[in-house]
Amino acid sequence: MRTIVMTGGTSGFGELAARRLLAAEGTRLLLGARGSAPTGAEALGLDLASLASVRAFADAVIERLGASEIDALVLNAGVNPANADGRTHDGFETAFAVNHLAHYLLVRLLLPRLARDAVVVLTTSGTHDPAEGAMVAPPRHADAELLAHPDRDPEADAGTREAAGRAYSSSKLCNILTVRALRSLPEADAKNLDVLAYDPGPTPGTGLLRNAPAIGRIAWRTFGALLHRLVPRFNSKEAAGGALSAIALRTAQPPTGRYYAALRRDELTWRDPSERARSDEARDALWRDSAAMVGLQP
Ligand SMILES: NC(=O)c1ccc[n+]([C@@H]2O[C@H](COP(=O)([O-])OP(=O)(O)OC[C@H]3O[C@@H](n4cnc5c(N)ncnc54)[C@H](OP(=O)(O)O)[C@@H]3O)[C@@H](O)[C@H]2O)c1
Repeated sequence: MRTIVMTGGTSGFGELAARRLLAAEGTRLLLGARGSAPTGAEALGLDLASLASVRAFADAVIERLGASEIDALVLNAGVNPANADGRTHDGFETAFAVNHLAHYLLVRLLLPRLARDAVVVLTTSGTHDPAEGAMVAPPRHADAELLAHPDRDPEADAGTREAAGRAYSSSKLCNILTVRALRSLPEADAKNLDVLAYDPGPTPGTGLLRNAPAIGRIAWRTFGALLHRLVPRFNSKEAAGGALSAIALRTAQPPTGRYYAALRRDELTWRDPSERARSDEARDALWRDSAAMVGLQP
């Protein structure tokens, strides 16, 4: 029996990935969810906007595991707020808290329960990389304190749209830095873990733009298949979910030393993330500052 723990399996391409995981023989799926989950998954309550909820979810997972271990940890949930003004229960900017900090805490709490040769995959976004030319403001830094409290950032964006985009892309930069930090841990080496970042690329047909103005939100959600056909650089929801499930099931394996999987034109590619995502200084500072924010030792 293969045990997979997942976030973000209730909507978008993550839901498709969850269904594929459930269809794989001998798979048990423990899914962190705010609402209902695909049939066959064991749904456990999780609101990533609350660190207390993350801790309760981790406890519930550990209880359900009993003596078994986690073979794949799939951290796919994400939010793309309309502005950078929202704060979570813990007082942190929403995109940073949900996309990065909650997953940082979750992976640290579940690390001891990962099986030997387990895979951890964190869903990031090409928006983290200025070279991708996305229509979203790219990150300026990965300073946890300033991302958690954008009002303290002396270079904070004046415009709502820019601030929101930068909060989102910065949280996705944090995902890759976290992947790199995890890969460098002695525990990862001792257990031969594979820790990977996954960028599904622009994938319409999901709920990601649920906070956007009505036209964009409806077009993105409802006409995903049509947009995919019309815009060559858009991926299909099926390909994005299929690639995520293939990584979790280890049917898609990275070339030696690669850790950043990016879906482009429905094909999985392995590439380098942005220069900032490759900074060891930024990686170490984010790991240390995130630990302090969630009350753990680095
Ligand atoms: N679609 C794209 O173009 C694209 C591109 C690059 C990266 N991504 C990333 O891909 C991932 C999946 O996105 P998607 O496009 O499939 O969007 P989606 O349909 O909105 O899916 C987001 C998932 O995250 C969950 N989630 C959000 N906030 C949560 C919270 N506070 N607590 C628990 N779960 C929460 C949602 O749960 P509910 O069902 O409860 O809402 C849902 O399962 C995200 O990390 C996103 O940033 C997407």
